[in-house]
Amino acid sequence: MNILIIGSGAREHAMAWAVLRSEKVLKVFVAPGNGGTAMMGGKVSNVPIGTTELDALLDFASKESVDLTIVGPEQPLGLGVVNRFRDAGRRVVGPTQEAARLETSKVFAKDFMKRQAIPSAEYRVFRSHAEAKAYLESCGSFPQVIKASGLCAGKGVVVAMSRQEALEAIHEFFEARVFGDAADEVVIEGFLHGQEASVFALTDGHEYRLFQSAQDHKRIGEGDTGKNTGGMGAYAPAPLVTPEVMRKVEEQVIRPTLAGMAAEGYPYTGFLYVGLMIERGEPSVVEFNARLGDPETQVVLPLLKSDFVDALMASVDGGLNDVPFEMHDGSAATVVMASAGYPDAYQSGKEISIDPTVALIDGATVFHAGTKREGSKLLTAGGRVLSVTALGGSLKDALDKAYEGIGKIHFEGACFRRDIGAKAL
Ligand code: AMP
Ligand code: GLY
Repeated sequence: MNILIIGSGAREHAMAWAVLRSEKVLKVFVAPGNGGTAMMGGKVSNVPIGTTELDALLDFASKESVDLTIVGPEQPLGLGVVNRFRDAGRRVVGPTQEAARLETSKVFAKDFMKRQAIPSAEYRVFRSHAEAKAYLESCGSFPQVIKASGLCAGKGVVVAMSRQEALEAIHEFFEARVFGDAADEVVIEGFLHGQEASVFALTDGHEYRLFQSAQDHKRIGEGDTGKNTGGMGAYAPAPLVTPEVMRKVEEQVIRPTLAGMAAEGYPYTGFLYVGLMIERGEPSVVEFNARLGDPETQVVLPLLKSDFVDALMASVDGGLNDVPFEMHDGSAATVVMASAGYPDAYQSGKEISIDPTVALIDGATVFHAGTKREGSKLLTAGGRVLSVTALGGSLKDALDKAYEGIGKIHFEGACFRRDIGAKAL
C-alpha cells in the first residue's frame, strides 16, 4: 500500500513513523516533508509539493497509485482537499471543507455548539469595530477572550485581562487588520477557568475511536509565561482527563458533535481535536481543530499499539469499531527545540548536530519540524526545529528520556522549556 502524508511538521514526521510500522505499507510520500522525513530513507520519500497545491497533490496521488492520503495541517482542509480527493475517488483521511469549519470558522463552531447544547463559553459575534467597541465599553467583567474567526496559525486569540487590552485587540483585528479577512468576524467570549487538556478522536462520521488525552504547553516560557507558540511540548495521557471526565467528553461533546454535524448535512470525518477547559471535573470546549495537534501527535501516535493504517483505512471504508485500537501502558512525553527568537522572527540555516547515541535511548525518537538536509548537513529551517519524544513506564520516566535526548542535540541558539510535564508530576 502507498501512503501520501500532506504536511511538513513534526506531526507529519510522527505520522510517517507510525504508518511505517504497518507491514502493509510499501511506500510513504510526504509532501513537502522536512529534513527528518528526508532522512528516513527506505520506503519514505519527500515530494516537493506544497500543502496547498491541491491540483499537484491530486495528480501525484494518481500517478503514484497512492491508496490513502492523510492530511496533517488545517490549511489544505480549509481549501477543500478532502472534497477534491473524494470527488476523484481517492481515499483520504480528514473532514470536508464544510465539516472543517469546526476549525476554520470560530463563528460556525460557536453557533454549532450552541445549537447542539455542547458546553462552551458564552459568546457574541461582531462584524465591525464599532459594534465590538461598544460591547467592550459596556462589558462589566474581564478577562474576556477575543478571537478572530478565521485561520490565524494559532495567533488569533487574545485573552484580554482588562478593557484596555480588549480594545487594543479589536483595533488590531478590525483596523490594523493584522490577520486580514480572517478577522472580518470576531468572537468575544467569556473566560473559562480551569486546566486545559485535549482529546483526539478518529471518526468515519458516526463511529469513533479515542486516542489518549494530552496536554500541550503553548507558551514559550517556563511556568507558562510569555508568548503563545504552536506548542513547546506535550505529554499523554493527561491525568486531568480521568475516565469520568473522558466519559463526559464523549457524552457531552464527541457524540453530539458527530450526530449534529451529520444531522446538519456535513458528516464529520477524519481526526477531531477537542481542546477543553476542565474545572472541577466538568469539561467545556475551548476550540475544535479539524486535525491532530502538533506537538500532541508526537505523543499520541507513539502510544498507539495497534496498526495505525488499519484504523485509518477503516475510518474511510467503514468498520472503525471492528478494528483493534489499543494503547500502550505508560506515558509519552515530547519536548520541542526551537530557534532563538521564536515565536517572533528567528534565524534559520544553523547547523544541527545530533549525537547518534540518541538512538540508543530506549523508546525515544527524534521528530523533525523546521529542518532541511543540505548535502551531508542538517540545518534549521523553521521556528520549531524538532521534538524529542520518549515513551516510559511513568510520565517521569518518559520525561527523563526525552530530556536525555534533548541533551544530545545542539544548534546555535536552541531554546526549549525545561518544565514540560512538571505540573503533572
Ligand atoms: P484557541 O485557539 O481557541 O484554542 O485559543 C488559544 C488559547 O487561548 C487556548 O489554548 C486557551 O489557553 C486560551 N483560551 C481560549 N479561549 C479561552 C476561554 N474562553 N477562556 C480561557 N482561555 C481561553
Ligand atoms: N498544539 C496545538 C495545535 O496543534 O493546535
